[in-house]
Amino acid sequence: MSSADGPFLVELDGVVRDYRLPRRWLFSPPPVLRALDGVSLAIRPGESVGIVGESGSGKSTLARIVAGLDRPEAGRVRRGGCVQMVFQDPYGSLDPRMRVERIVGEALFGDPDGRARKRERCIDALEAVGLSADDMRKYPHAFSGGQRQRIAIARALVARPDLVIADEPVSALDVSVQAQVLNLMVDLRGRFGMAYMLISHDLAVIAHLCERVAVIHGGRIVEEGATAAVLASPRHQHTRALLDAVLPPDPQAAREKLDRARRS
Ligand SMILES: Nc1ncnc2c1ncn2[C@@H]1O[C@H](COP(=O)(O)OP(=O)(O)OP(=O)(O)O)[C@@H](O)[C@H]1O
Ligand SMILES: [Mg+2]
Repeated sequence: MSSADGPFLVELDGVVRDYRLPRRWLFSPPPVLRALDGVSLAIRPGESVGIVGESGSGKSTLARIVAGLDRPEAGRVRRGGCVQMVFQDPYGSLDPRMRVERIVGEALFGDPDGRARKRERCIDALEAVGLSADDMRKYPHAFSGGQRQRIAIARALVARPDLVIADEPVSALDVSVQAQVLNLMVDLRGRFGMAYMLISHDLAVIAHLCERVAVIHGGRIVEEGATAAVLASPRHQHTRALLDAVLPPDPQAAREKLDRARRS
């Protein structure tokens, strides 16, 4: 994709990120692990892009670079709007000593709005995720995992982001709650029109929310396209492997079983 297709919210061009590992001997050069190896990716306003890949493939590193929390060794990153992040673990990502009011309001630090207006914005954000003004004075321990993830989403929302990066936002939640949180994300996009970068190892989660998907393997994007097209005919072996992980072991057998069940 070239910049002629723009305007983009985020544009990565040939991004490389190395991690220096501890030296093995005092005088040996530190070994280097190339976590991202020439990644190019563009996200348009309002678009939902899924990033899928196995553990260690570089997804979180990519998220941190897009969010501006980390800098690449080489390549270019251009960002054209407010970017907020939702992390995987709703137990670890909310400070247990802070009330919800402060957790959600933190993103408004430095915002020119006055105190009363900031409070209103926090309440609006909480209500948008299905919580209420009464929850402002509570601490994170008073909430379930799904509710905590709603608080984390409210914290992202309050800053009026153009892009929300969600790194495995439902994988720490009970299966019964996962769909509720994903549906909430779909709902919020409909109301506020932000773009998403949704990271998951689970293609089913990505298919729920994203019209486009990029498959990452060993720090490289190995396949990218419309989610429906990639799911229907994956070209890369790693995409097929990820698909096998979410489909029944033998799709043909599963289909026949389904047909038999229908006929009987
Ligand atoms: N701070 C760090 N120092 C050294 N190596 C790191 C660091 N962070 C990540 N890595 C390595 O970089 C590679 C990519 O890691 P990353 O966390 O981006 O993968 P991931 O796709 O998010 O994996 P997961 O699905 O397990 O979250 C891995 O090999 C990892 O061990
Ligand atoms: Mg990760």
